[in-house]
Amino acid sequence: MRAEAQIDYIDQINHAVNHIQGVHSEPIEIGIILGTGLGQLIQNIEVEHEIPYEEIPFFPVSTVESHKGRLVIGRLSGKKVMAMQGRFHYYEGYSMREVTFPVRVMKKVGIETLIVSNAAGGLHPDYKVGDLMILNDHIDLFPENPLRGKNLDVFGVRFPDMSEPYTQRLIALAKTIAADQNIDVNEGVYAAVQGPNLETKAEYRYLRTIGADAVGMSTIPEVIVGLHMNMEIFAISAITDLCSPGNIKKVSIAEVLAAAAIAEPKMSTVIRELVREL
Ligand code: HPA
Repeated sequence: MRAEAQIDYIDQINHAVNHIQGVHSEPIEIGIILGTGLGQLIQNIEVEHEIPYEEIPFFPVSTVESHKGRLVIGRLSGKKVMAMQGRFHYYEGYSMREVTFPVRVMKKVGIETLIVSNAAGGLHPDYKVGDLMILNDHIDLFPENPLRGKNLDVFGVRFPDMSEPYTQRLIALAKTIAADQNIDVNEGVYAAVQGPNLETKAEYRYLRTIGADAVGMSTIPEVIVGLHMNMEIFAISAITDLCSPGNIKKVSIAEVLAAAAIAEPKMSTVIRELVREL
């Protein structure tokens, strides 16, 4: 029974890969996952193909209105990329295997470098709304792990190393790019919770105490699966609300999206130029 379930999942991945390669047969170098309200980067891509998620066999379908669910394949800064416009969140009800299905598919179409963006609450007292934070580490507080269950040996080892989840070389490159472009960037630790509710003041205090600089509800599952497959990973947060003591106020999704819009041009520039340098 267990073995069958594993074969099923790998079969599903293969079906999705075959579909994508039927549309676009060339290898793809870089995968990009666009977070909440950060889809503008797409405008920098010379689009060759757009594939709605519902056309891809076994691909989950996004339920969040602020996310358009499609794969965009094309050239960004001269490199062949595949961008996910719309990601899958655990809080929507997907299993971790569903949340990370697209990352497995990315690896099988040749992608070795994964770039991930998200919207996050700022825990570091110096962060401001609209700031960027490059992830240099993370704290996984999800109640489920995407690697739980029989290991998928074809992809990676049972106990993948997490000592450098975010590739130092890419962090250094991005910081140089940001400095050249006069864009302020922070570097810090991202904690992920399952959501969908935002945190209480006591929870924000706790997250700060355990060493987090920002908190969100995504990214870590995809990063874990990417690391399982030995991908190089770069991730960046747009700080959309402040969660440090004295700065906490009621936030609405509208405010989160408005703040993401402030960060968006800066984030797009950093990612566009990072892709050029890869
Ligand atoms: N908490 C969790 N996730 C978030 C937040 C937050 O304050 N802001 C944006 N995503």
